[in-house]
Amino acid sequence: MALEKPLALFPLLVLVLLVLEWVQPTVGRESAAKKFQRQHMDSSDSFSSSPTYCNEMMKRRNMTKGHCKPVNTFVHEPLVNVQAVCTQENVTCKNGQTNCYQSKSSMHITDCRLTRGSKYPDCRYQTTVKERYIIVACEGNPSVPVHFDASVEVST
Ligand SMILES: *[C@@H]1O[C@H](CO)[C@@H](O)[C@H](O)[C@H]1NC(C)=O
Ligand SMILES: *[C@@H]1O[C@H](CO)[C@@H](O)[C@H](O)[C@H]1NC(C)=O
Repeated sequence: MALEKPLALFPLLVLVLLVLEWVQPTVGRESAAKKFQRQHMDSSDSFSSSPTYCNEMMKRRNMTKGHCKPVNTFVHEPLVNVQAVCTQENVTCKNGQTNCYQSKSSMHITDCRLTRGSKYPDCRYQTTVKERYIIVACEGNPSVPVHFDASVEVST
């Protein structure tokens, strides 16, 4: 008799756990816009181009979890200036999509490239500081950068 009530609650408990399981990742998931900021924005005033910049930043921004992300670019400009690129020159993305935009002005960027022979979990990067036009893919309303497509050499 005493056991009946707790047993009746068991299916309910299972249901609650299932619902939590389903809801939790949806709540925790990073938006594409936030992911872009994590992977590509470093507007900090303290930015300095040390040779170990990429080793430190790729790790700090979680791009060396599970595997070493092979290439990545950080942009050292205020976020608003990078978001503004979404209203600038409409260009075709590398993958053929039409929602890419190229910046009107050149920007300070750092390219990180995994060095030959670097093996996970010891991700080692070559750090290269550049001044380039950037191309980003934009989505949403308001339209914001969600993907870093390329950088373009400033012609002299
Ligand atoms: C990196 O991942 C850890 C654990 O998943 C998280 O706590 C941290 O906020 C992440 N860092 C960034 C910059 O997103
Ligand atoms: C500009 O980008 C939009 C998507 O953001 C696309 O639909 C449109 O075709 C593009 N325009 C040109 C002229 O490429």
